[in-house]
Amino acid sequence: PSKESQDVLQAFEWLTKLYHHLLRHSKDGKEGYHYLKERGFSDETIDTFQLGFSPKSKTFIMQFLEKKGFHPQSMVKAGVLTTTSDNEVVDRFQGRIIYPIKNHLGKPIAYGGRTISDQSPKYLNSPETELFQKGRLLYNFDLARSHIRKEGKVVLFEGYMDVISAYQAGIKNSVATLGTSITETQAKLLRRYVESVVICYDSDQAGILASYKAAKLLRKTGCNVSVAKMEDGMDPDDYIKKYGPEKFTKDVIAVSDTYMAFIMRYLKKDYNLNLEGDRIQYVENVLDEIALLDRPVEREHFLKELANEFELSVQTLSQEIRSRRAMTG
Ligand code: CTP
Ligand code: MN
Ligand code: MN
Ligand code: MN
Ligand code: MN
Repeated sequence: PSKESQDVLQAFEWLTKLYHHLLRHSKDGKEGYHYLKERGFSDETIDTFQLGFSPKSKTFIMQFLEKKGFHPQSMVKAGVLTTTSDNEVVDRFQGRIIYPIKNHLGKPIAYGGRTISDQSPKYLNSPETELFQKGRLLYNFDLARSHIRKEGKVVLFEGYMDVISAYQAGIKNSVATLGTSITETQAKLLRRYVESVVICYDSDQAGILASYKAAKLLRKTGCNVSVAKMEDGMDPDDYIKKYGPEKFTKDVIAVSDTYMAFIMRYLKKDYNLNLEGDRIQYVENVLDEIALLDRPVEREHFLKELANEFELSVQTLSQEIRSRRAMTG
């Protein structure tokens, strides 16, 4: 890292401790602490993730940084201070819960800031810097890495809260993409450590579409993908808080759909299978997907399922698969 990045790393080291201390032990941080308690997070969890709070003050953080000898302009660039429309330099995360975002060595390199009121945006994140490129990093990878290795499996979430909830529930092989779009870099990073990925995104329209995209990308990267499902509208944190960790593990993670089962369920939603034309298109789409599966057993399994469901002969469908595979080599 450049000299500038070294300074930022140093500043973030101090700041992470300060935000966390303020949340845990100060009057200014009480509302942040209570918010997290209300949402069911233990002191141990708050400490593990070094969650913090930025006081409702324009200059509290700036003054601290100045005392430590950091230049306001470099801290604006690092994204912890910000310049207002009146050209005033102020604290960026005023009144927000702080989630330190750490690199894979466990060093904080950015922050997510969540409002505790209904202010918009709900999350304000650090801007991209030399140190922090959102698409190259997975949230919680530093703590999850050894668990991912041990379990031979990773659970992939959308958000901070989902990872933290899962971790508290004992599912420690958990990481998040920080939003719904997984990049090729993130997929490759995961694949270096593990083959099996359980996608556990929010059960809303954005999350389901994102699961489809992530499933395809991860598969292309060589992962063995499965996709968890929950009641409509819920996210993993909601589910764990409502039904508890045991049920989440048993009824969501352990019974996640295989890649093809998910794809079939996903493609179905765009068709009215009572219509002949739609039925044919759906079958064609599923055949395209089956043809891409590497293992003959898998191909046969889903082919039979498709044949049964649509009263088609296995022979005809096999023929379709063969010609598709011949074309792609
Ligand atoms: N996100 C973001 N900026 C936003 C909204 C979302 O960066 N304005 C990212 C955050 O990393 C967030 C994730 O996308 O954790 C998922 O978003 P969402 O489901 O809206 O948030 P939750 O993680 O469910 O947070 P909460 O439970 O506190 O509402
Ligand atoms: Mn602590
Ligand atoms: Mn969402
Ligand atoms: Mn969510
Ligand atoms: Mn949530």
